[in-house]
Amino acid sequence: MVNEVPVFVVGAGVAGLSTAIRAQEAGFNVTIFAETFPGDKKTIKYTSCWAAANHISVATTNALLHQLERETLSVFLEMLKKDPLIPVMIRPHKEHVQVLGPEGQKQLDHLSNCYSDFRLLEPNELPEGVTKGAMYSTICIDVPRYLPWVLERFLALGGRAFRGTLPSLSALLSEEDRPSLTPFPPTSTNVHPSLNPVAIINCTGIGARSIGDVLDADVYPTRGEVLIIRAPWIKHGLSYYYEDGHLTYAIPRQSGDVILGGSFQVDDWHPISRPEMVKLIKERGIAAYPELLPPDKREARNIADLDVVEECVGLRPTRKGGVRLEVTSLNAHSKSLPIVHNYGHGGAGYQSSWGSAKAAVDLLKSAVNE
Ligand SMILES: Cc1cc2nc3c(=O)[nH]c(=O)nc-3n(C[C@H](O)[C@H](O)[C@H](O)COP(=O)(O)OP(=O)(O)OC[C@H]3O[C@@H](n4cnc5c(N)ncnc54)[C@H](O)[C@@H]3O)c2cc1C
Ligand SMILES: *[C@@H]1O[C@H](CO)[C@@H](O)[C@H](O)[C@H]1NC(C)=O
Ligand SMILES: *[C@@H]1O[C@H](CO)[C@@H](O)[C@H](O)[C@H]1NC(C)=O
Repeated sequence: MVNEVPVFVVGAGVAGLSTAIRAQEAGFNVTIFAETFPGDKKTIKYTSCWAAANHISVATTNALLHQLERETLSVFLEMLKKDPLIPVMIRPHKEHVQVLGPEGQKQLDHLSNCYSDFRLLEPNELPEGVTKGAMYSTICIDVPRYLPWVLERFLALGGRAFRGTLPSLSALLSEEDRPSLTPFPPTSTNVHPSLNPVAIINCTGIGARSIGDVLDADVYPTRGEVLIIRAPWIKHGLSYYYEDGHLTYAIPRQSGDVILGGSFQVDDWHPISRPEMVKLIKERGIAAYPELLPPDKREARNIADLDVVEECVGLRPTRKGGVRLEVTSLNAHSKSLPIVHNYGHGGAGYQSSWGSAKAAVDLLKSAVNE
C-alpha cells in the first residue's frame, strides 16, 4: 500500500524521529528534513546525541508532561516485552538525599506514583551522610545505539529524509527558497520531495530559537555537562542530592558505559566543557558512588582513576510554559497549511518522546481533517 498524503517533519532528534514514525503508522507519507542526523559527528546543535538518558519523571507540577512521560514509559516497556534486545534496558535506580527539604519530599512522593516498585530505603541501607533514600526500576536508553535504531525503523517503513539547513519552515514550500537538500542516507535514491505537504511538524529542539518565520522567545537552553565513564560492572543508576544543591547522577548503558552527571545551567550556551565543572562532577561522583572506580582503586578515591571516555555538553531545549504541542497555520507562497509544533522538552525529551509523538500526530490528524 502506498501512502499518498505527504507530511514533512523538520528535525531528526528523538522528537522528530518518534513523531515521524507515528505519522507513518497513521498513514502519512513522511519526509524528514534536518541539518543533523543520528550517526553524525556530535554537535552542540543536536541535543539528542548528548542525552544520558533514562526515565525519571520531572513532571512534579506539570500534568501534561506527566501524562506524556507515563505514556512513553508504557511504550518502552511494551517494546521491551516484544524484543528484549532493543537498546533500552530496565535497571534499578537509587535516590540518595543528604538532607530532605519540602521540594525533595514532593519529588519522592511524585516518584512513588510513577514507578510501580518504588520503595523507601531502610535506614540500614543508607550510606553515611545520606538521610533519606528510595529505589525503583526504570529504563535506561543507550543513546548512541537507540538513535540509529529509531532512524532505521523510520526508513524501513518507507520514510525518506533530506539533509539541509533551513532558514525557515516556509522555505520548504518554494523551489527558489529551498536551501540545497541532499538525500539521507547519501546512498538513497530519493527524488526531490514534493512542494505541497499537507502539514509540517516542527521538531527543531533548541534550533527552534533560530529557525524562523517567527522567533519563539520562550525557548532557552539548560546546559548539561556529563562524563561518559567506562564501568561495565555498574548495575544500578543513582541520583545523589547534595545539600548544597549539586546533583550527581549515574546512568548505566547497555554498552557498559555509564553517564556521570551533571549540571543544569540555565540560559548558558557555552558549547564545550569547563575544566572546573569536569573536576566537580568527578569529585562529587566518586564521593557519591565509589563503585564507579575500578574495584582495586576504590580505597584511594582518586579522581584520576575514573576511566573517562568523553566529556560531553548538551543544551536541553527548555521552554517557558513547557513543551509546545500546538497547531498554528503557515501562509506563504500562496499556500496555507497547518504547522504542528512538538518542541521544548527540556531534560525530558526521551522520557516523553512517544507520548509527545502520539499527541503531535493526533493534532496532525485533526488539523488535516478540518
Ligand atoms: C546532559 C543531558 C542529559 C539528558 N538526559 C536526559 C534523560 O535522562 N532523559 C530524557 O528524557 N532526556 C534527557 N535529556 C534531554 C534530551 O536530550 C532532549 O530533551 C531531547 O534530546 C530533545 O530532542 P529534540 O528532538 O527536541 O531536539 P534535537 O535532538 O536537538 O534535534 C533537533 C533537530 O532539529 C534539526 N534542526 C534544528 N534547526 C534546524 C534548521 N534550521 N534546519 C534544519 N534542521 C534543523 C537539528 O538538525 C536536529 O535534527 C538530556 C539532555 C542533556 C543535554
Ligand atoms: C511516498 O510518496 C512518494 C512520492 O509520491 C512515493 O514514491 C513513495 O512510494 C511513498 N512512500 C510510501 C511509504 O508510501
Ligand atoms: C517553528 O517553530 C519555531 C520556534 O517557535 C518558530 O520560530 C517558527 O516560526 C515555527 N515555524 C512556523 C512556520 O510557525
